[in-house]
Amino acid sequence: MIADVDNDSIVYLNGETLRLGDAKISVLDRGFIFGDGIYDVVPAYSGRPFRMDEHLDRLERSLASISIQVDMQRADWEHLVTDMISRSGLGDCMVYIQVTRGVAARDHAFPANSKPTVFCMVSPFVRPGAVQREQGLSAVSIPDLRWLRCEIKSISLLGNVLAKQAAVDAGVDEVLQFRDGFLSEGASSNVWIAKNNVLLAPPRNNLILEGIRYRLLEELAAQAGVSFEARPVSTEEVDQADEIMMTSATKEILPITTYNANPVGSGKPGPVYEKLRKGYDQAIRTLEQA
Ligand code: PDD
Repeated sequence: MIADVDNDSIVYLNGETLRLGDAKISVLDRGFIFGDGIYDVVPAYSGRPFRMDEHLDRLERSLASISIQVDMQRADWEHLVTDMISRSGLGDCMVYIQVTRGVAARDHAFPANSKPTVFCMVSPFVRPGAVQREQGLSAVSIPDLRWLRCEIKSISLLGNVLAKQAAVDAGVDEVLQFRDGFLSEGASSNVWIAKNNVLLAPPRNNLILEGIRYRLLEELAAQAGVSFEARPVSTEEVDQADEIMMTSATKEILPITTYNANPVGSGKPGPVYEKLRKGYDQAIRTLEQA
């Protein structure tokens, strides 16, 4: 029994569907022993996966980047996602997919013949509510102490776990991580600032995970007539930003209205956020009505 989860919910493990409470893996799984694996999180609204192609592109990219070969074609991944959503009976939900290098004797080098472990579960998704949208989040800055391959959606998340715990310990909602004086990202989200009506975000490189909302926000900005620049964003620029916001599958897009104990801009969600938020909500409605 695992507390706080639905042990009767149906999960997928290595070709089988079974109760979460009955799903077991070996202690020699390299995911457990080394954190040797990758994952992705696909949000769904009214039972329909949002931007599934982009999530599955990233999943395949992550697998290729650590040389895990899984005997699953694109259609198999798509089927897994849609089948698990329908088995869950949930409307708004998160589909979590994890692949590890599988079970082998403990040795750091890749094993010759291990079979990847493929796991998928679906959890209810409570969308960010009015309070978060209207009041925004609080955040503090911390140094980014993670490795230099942050573009891989690795299950080795100790750096991100410690970052999120730093927010909890500071009594705030989130952290903004900085490497060498420049913004990287949140604990599990991408970060954006607005200055003089221009949207800025750190460039896509090995220092951040490119969220599926990265491209989406570029599209929404273009639709809303907001110019966008991807370039290194300094600590000072974040301090002086008119607006700060975060995106992720679970946060969608949320404003940060308190940063290092100071109000951001007016201290209320700003006009660039409002435009992007409207576009995001519209994209969800379009999916639901398709
Ligand atoms: N995290 N950066 C990091 C480090 C992340 O972990 C995430 C997402 C993002 C945003 O990516 P996306 O827009 O594709 O959700 C950026 C997921 C939600 C998680 O770990 O649960």
